[in-house]
Amino acid sequence: MAPAWERARPEPCAFVIFGASGHLAGRKLLPALYNLAVDDALPERIAIVGYGRSRLGRDEFIASMRESVDRHSRRPVAEAHWQRLAAALEYVQGEYQGPQALAGLRQALADIDRRYGTEGNRVFYLGTPPSVFEPIALSLRDAGLTCAPRSRPWCRVIVEKPFGRDLESALHLDEIFAQAFDESQIYRIDHYLGKETVQNLLVFRFANMIFEPVWNRNYVDQVQITVAEDIGIERRGQFYEETGVLRDIIQSHALQLLALIALEAPVDWQPDSLRDQRVQVLRSIRPILPAEMHDSVVVGQYRGYREEPNVAPDSVTPTYAALRVFIDNWRWQGVPFYIRSGKKLAKRVTEIAVVFRCIPVCLFRERDVCQMIDSDVLALRIQPDEGIHLRFGAKLPGRALRIANVTMDFDYYSAFGAEPPEAYERLLLDCMRGDPSLFTRRDSVEASWRLITPILGALEERSPTDFPNYEPGSWGPAAADELLRREHHYWRDL
Ligand code: BG6
Repeated sequence: MAPAWERARPEPCAFVIFGASGHLAGRKLLPALYNLAVDDALPERIAIVGYGRSRLGRDEFIASMRESVDRHSRRPVAEAHWQRLAAALEYVQGEYQGPQALAGLRQALADIDRRYGTEGNRVFYLGTPPSVFEPIALSLRDAGLTCAPRSRPWCRVIVEKPFGRDLESALHLDEIFAQAFDESQIYRIDHYLGKETVQNLLVFRFANMIFEPVWNRNYVDQVQITVAEDIGIERRGQFYEETGVLRDIIQSHALQLLALIALEAPVDWQPDSLRDQRVQVLRSIRPILPAEMHDSVVVGQYRGYREEPNVAPDSVTPTYAALRVFIDNWRWQGVPFYIRSGKKLAKRVTEIAVVFRCIPVCLFRERDVCQMIDSDVLALRIQPDEGIHLRFGAKLPGRALRIANVTMDFDYYSAFGAEPPEAYERLLLDCMRGDPSLFTRRDSVEASWRLITPILGALEERSPTDFPNYEPGSWGPAAADELLRREHHYWRDL
């Protein structure tokens, strides 16, 4: 049976989605809410309120959400469950900024509280383009829709990534949000932290004894983090032109994976203990100086990107990036962490590979046998084919001494018989319950921008001239291989 905290139902609330007719609401949020409804995990009394500029009637909104849930839910839609969710859906049309912008929402929520019994508790989900986060936060304050921390009824705000465009704008946004909310009410979402396989990184490291002694510079030669996607930008040209891969994936998802793989054990399982350790790692990453850019960063753009809708014909937005970073602490000094991410790559795969050092001496005398010995690799497969694989050398059966790579495999599906739930399900529920463990705190977002901002600045100064520089369906630009080859390292063949 699930532990008590996992079974605890969140208190009644109105869940307000800003940007309700956008990509994220239809693709991720509504399907997640639907699956939570199927699991009977939503609050007993909930209203899900779409808010947007589009003029939509309630029925139209429900019909379009149904279409999205049909298309994107991980489980087929069952009519009875859908009807229960649909009965909680409301739509409010309005602006995000300007005097009185959210006065209509405030009124609508007062009425919704009465009809649904949601007790004045609110989650505001900012699923809009980042450019309107600031006016929405201020309009929420001006409309009197915010509340004191730890008060009742409670209010919380979930903010989508990227939080800001660079360090300066993130600091500015922090200041703006601080005028409307207390830090304890701000849930900055990075949905990778809600993935089962990502949460398992901590269980793997801290519920087992045998890995910790080798989890350091004495045994680990390099770490490779790959977040590869085979899809392109999927009609999100405008969003992607504003972000690019460094803001979209590296600054958030990839650095959070790095933090989890590299962090020290927290003192306990309290939300802030874990968040403290994640931020320690981010703060220990050695800044990449302009002079080191060439040896540490490679960017790319796939052929055809410039022809995508809403993309400039001479765009220099990178759709691929590879980085080499070092963590300046006792555990990891000198160990390169390679990170790569891109759109339209050969396949969709997210993996963290811990590559161990070579053996110090080869016993087997013959040179050709010694050459058969590869480094051991622990591959933590985040998605798809979720699992963990340990590669090591074994004797090939036969009289001659021959060595081959073999793997010990753990596969989620065969071990647990089911696909893990979607990250958004876990995260939406955590926020409704008031558990911020899997959300990123202000200091963590700032620390990751501190690393990424100089890279963005250097790219802006001398825009890449060789774009497009990789073919769709490949593994990115050739220079990314070069980045590792200099150290006699190679990207794993995925
Ligand atoms: C989002 C990015 O945060 O993550 C998208 O904005 C990307 O560009 C997506 O496609 C990938 O998420 P997942 O869960 O499919 O790996």
